[in-house]
Amino acid sequence: MALTLIAIVGGVLFLFCFCSALLRWNEVRYMNKNKSLPQGTMGLPLFGETTEFLKQGPNFMKNKRARYGSFFKTHILGSPTIVSLDAEMNRYILMNESKGLVPGYPKSMLDILGKCNIAAVHGSTHKYLRGALLSIISPTMIRDQLLPKIDQFMRSHLSNWDNQLIDIQDKTKQMAFLSSLRQIAGKESIRIKDRITPEFSKLVLGTLSLPIPLPGTNYSRAFQARKAIVSIISEVIEERRKSQETHKDMLAGLMGNDESRYNLSDEEIIDLVITVIYSGYETVSATSMMAVKYLHDHPKALQQLREEQLAIRQRKKPDEPLDYNDIKSMKFTRAVIFETSRLATIVNGVLRKTNEEMELNGYLIPKGWKLYVFLREINYDPSLYPQPLKFNPWRWLGNLESNNHCLVFGGGTRLCPGKELGIVEISTFLHYFVTRYSWEEVGGTLLKFPRVQAPNGLHIRCHLIN
Ligand code: HEM
Repeated sequence: MALTLIAIVGGVLFLFCFCSALLRWNEVRYMNKNKSLPQGTMGLPLFGETTEFLKQGPNFMKNKRARYGSFFKTHILGSPTIVSLDAEMNRYILMNESKGLVPGYPKSMLDILGKCNIAAVHGSTHKYLRGALLSIISPTMIRDQLLPKIDQFMRSHLSNWDNQLIDIQDKTKQMAFLSSLRQIAGKESIRIKDRITPEFSKLVLGTLSLPIPLPGTNYSRAFQARKAIVSIISEVIEERRKSQETHKDMLAGLMGNDESRYNLSDEEIIDLVITVIYSGYETVSATSMMAVKYLHDHPKALQQLREEQLAIRQRKKPDEPLDYNDIKSMKFTRAVIFETSRLATIVNGVLRKTNEEMELNGYLIPKGWKLYVFLREINYDPSLYPQPLKFNPWRWLGNLESNNHCLVFGGGTRLCPGKELGIVEISTFLHYFVTRYSWEEVGGTLLKFPRVQAPNGLHIRCHLIN
């Protein structure tokens, strides 16, 4: 009995010493010789502090800030990382890609989205691919080609919701995906949607998984899904090349013609198509879902938004589609979208990495370290947004959007190129939603970290108005 007790106590002591030694070793391993790194802790080798980070989310950041300030080191998601919660520093990091602060997204994401994906390229290649992307989502393209498709899609997507129990999370996800597909591949989208939809869901799951290339893992399933998506899009490209038919959609813009400024390879075209669908998927769907939630909880805001939308509808014939001037006149709706993105923090943070050793904030950051630009803190900064936890769309009716520290759509050379397109999609969705339906919430819990989601759905019951 006594021997067993000694063995247990000895075992516990050994484990304690072993873990302390590992923690200490991990701290020493990441110390650099000349200048000190920012304060902070690195956790266990390999795992670092990932579990605490994912479990505690924003509280992890708050606790760290209380101990180490707004610029600290940690080890999360497999890499030594500097976290910045400082508004000035965050802006500096986003504005200085040319000084070697390049995107630092996880390997799984880059592998699955393809090597010509916009987050995987820097310098002149980034400029070229971004230019090609901007050319197919410019205001003129939105006005002439994309908005008519979005409008047509939303009308039919939002039909038959009367007296139905709707999972608005599910509906807004379908909406973001299928509406992108329609903009990309016009009428072919109807033919390919059933094949591509399940593959896209697998692809999304894999981009945030551990990069383990073993059968059955989310990572390898996403790889297979990528292959299937590549083959579906290649088929459409081949068929279009064989036929003489002309198309007016994003794919036609990327495939170009003899006068095009951009001469993209098929690999670049396909990776850009995947970029468009992927980047607008969770951002547009989560913002739309959260706008429905906030409008439900704030009747005054809902009333003002509905009045704005009904005034537009009343100027039109019943089936007349929205045009770009209608969208531009939706000032309050735009304010609701910005306030929703801010308060829900649709994008919690963006990742960069150092591509050489560099000095930041008086510290020497080694090459290859990640920088986590945590946007949530800026979104809740009371000096920028008084009473930051309050849903107050009216705050955006001035010129807050152009404030240097407003980073809901990122900033610098990586500022979201889909910002206006995303706003058009969400505005069109809200137009048909509030002019057709009233709704009551049935239930659903919301999580805001690591991504904004309703794990069991957000259920509402809709009623046709008038
Ligand atoms: C409400 C909707 C949206 C929000 C809140 C949003 C937010 C953001 C943010 C914060 C970034 C910066 C990422 C970084 O710095 O690493 C970004 C980049 C990007 N977004 Fe969006 N986005 C939205 C909609 C869209 C849509 C509809 C598209 C489709 C074209 C899109 C395409 C992209 C792309 C391609 C990038 C990367 C740009 C680059 O690296 O040059 N986004 N977005």
